Amino acid sequence: APVAACDFVVFGGTGDLAFRKLLPALYLRDRDGQLTPDTRIVSVSRAGLSDEDYRDKVHAEVRAFLPPGTFDADAWAAFRERLYHRELDVTNLAAYQDLAKVLVGGEDRVRAFYLSCAPKLFGPVSRNLHEAGLITEKSRVVLEKPIGTDLASARRINDEVGAVFHEHQIYRIDHYLGKETVQNLLVLRFANMLFEPLWRSGSIDHVQITVAEDLGVGGRGGYYDDAGALRDMVQNHLLQLLCLVAMEPPASVDADAVRDEKLKVLQALRPTGPGDVVRGQYRSGAVSGAAVAGYTEELGGPSSTETFVALRVGIDNWRWAGVPFYLRTGKRLDRRSSEIVVQFRPVPHSIFGADGPPLSANRLVLRLQPDEGVRLHLMTKEPGPGGYRARGASLNLQFSETFKTRTPDAYERLLMDIVRGNPTLFMRRDEVEAAWTWTEPILAAWAADAVGPKPYAAGSSGPAAAIALIERDGRTWHEEE
Ligand code: BG6
Repeated sequence: APVAACDFVVFGGTGDLAFRKLLPALYLRDRDGQLTPDTRIVSVSRAGLSDEDYRDKVHAEVRAFLPPGTFDADAWAAFRERLYHRELDVTNLAAYQDLAKVLVGGEDRVRAFYLSCAPKLFGPVSRNLHEAGLITEKSRVVLEKPIGTDLASARRINDEVGAVFHEHQIYRIDHYLGKETVQNLLVLRFANMLFEPLWRSGSIDHVQITVAEDLGVGGRGGYYDDAGALRDMVQNHLLQLLCLVAMEPPASVDADAVRDEKLKVLQALRPTGPGDVVRGQYRSGAVSGAAVAGYTEELGGPSSTETFVALRVGIDNWRWAGVPFYLRTGKRLDRRSSEIVVQFRPVPHSIFGADGPPLSANRLVLRLQPDEGVRLHLMTKEPGPGGYRARGASLNLQFSETFKTRTPDAYERLLMDIVRGNPTLFMRRDEVEAAWTWTEPILAAWAADAVGPKPYAAGSSGPAAAIALIERDGRTWHEEE
């Protein structure tokens, strides 16, 4: 069913995120009939483009980012008509009158101001929207991560945006929360009896969260070199995944019920010690057989920014005491692959005797991408008369086979949630700030450390020190089966 009539105003409408993610997602929702006929998408940027120029540009740039088989000439033609562009210097209040003109007649509709621009502009843009009289009762503002670069700047931005928008109007997006497998984590944990009684330190040995990318930083070097992997991925995406794995059962999926529980996890994170963190930076190498340049060559200058991080994280509460969470993420690794691995403890005693088959412990693997699915590793008897020959095997649920539908992109779900007014899958202010509180000491330690990130070859699985980080504890990183 269609959502309410909406004006999407995208600040940074000619940027990478708009072309790669936002416009494809809106097109796909439109194609499925979810946007009302009068819904408008207004791009705002410094580019001097007419509406028609912008439509042509979107046609040229966005089609390549549509999932295979989803382009439909009629649906695309209709979508194209929804697009507008306004040239705007966002710091110039007077210029907002131009934006007001295109939004005319839309005062009673949902207005979603999507700020896909530098975080330092979130405050000034919000203030100008307010002073230009563009913020209505039904307006919402969407903030892209990372919110700030540390706790103080995050607080400042939250204060500035909070001065003109109510917290319930602020949607801090973390697109990992919109991924199908991530939402499925809630269903798996809380719609099955099987897992929850075992979901604790007595039965779980440790948890691994890996988000590996094969791409380099490409044209985003300007942003990325200031951010680095810790700010770009760990402070938000990986910690959010950790929260969903570790949180107590909320009473409902209401936004605050879920976010209250995530916040408690963030507040229980143990500060990391110097031996708990490894940072790396890729050198030249080969990914899938193709030679690629190293990070600083791509950047065109020296840099101590990390493109890889591995961490050992503790959660100091009853449920998780003594259960390490190992996190790692990096660019230019051997493949694109993201997963959450819950490694159970071995059985306390083998009835098959010391000479019997070696038993491997249960493992639950949630694959985020590619090939979304869930795999449960267990022991089973090998058929045959030769005694109890036990062998590891997997129950394997592959979403694309079980459900013969296309897996929607995270932004499709999240953009519609914004229009519906459902912030469950968005970060609340206190969560973002708690995540910074935990992240800051790591940044401070790095700033004081002259050694810099450890090199790793592009196309490898990261620096050797990241392997040592987990092997030191007698464990290994999970390899794809
Ligand atoms: C973004 C980061 O938030 O997430 C990027 O800024 C990263 O650096 C991207 O590549 C990864 O998202 P996905 O959905 O491709 O795993």
